[in-house]
Amino acid sequence: MKVLVIHGPNLSLLGERETDVYGKLTLEEINKALLESAKNEGVELEIVQMDSEGEIVEKIGSARKSFQALLINPGAYTHYSIAIRDAVAGVKIPTVEVHLSNIYAREEFRQKSVIAPVAVGQVSGFGLNSYLLGLKAAISVAK
Ligand code: DQA
Repeated sequence: MKVLVIHGPNLSLLGERETDVYGKLTLEEINKALLESAKNEGVELEIVQMDSEGEIVEKIGSARKSFQALLINPGAYTHYSIAIRDAVAGVKIPTVEVHLSNIYAREEFRQKSVIAPVAVGQVSGFGLNSYLLGLKAAISVAK
């Protein structure tokens, strides 16, 4: 099984960016933990980070033939990108949305996800564990 992991905009700045909200782990450290967990599960991962909405849409569109599940932290696009929502709905790859922070405990504009209704589910608020739990969920729904 192959799982695609997409980190959205500004997530390359983890470790430096708003550490009180997102913690001190870097994206590299998160990716290392994901790869280790995937290895234990016998699953192959491709991990990408993209700042641009169009690139994310393209990546999801081209993933439909080669991936069985998608794990995505859409960053700020979570709250308004109908294009990413449509891409997820269109490819029919089981998708799990993750967030480091609890988006429902933050500013009002972050409390809505336009992606969640087309995802299998969402994990929000557990830092690195959001990704690790999300990966387990993605694997179990794709099996
Ligand atoms: C985030 C939450 C979003 O609101 C924010 O724009 C991010 C990170 C999270 O992982 O908590 O970039 O997706």
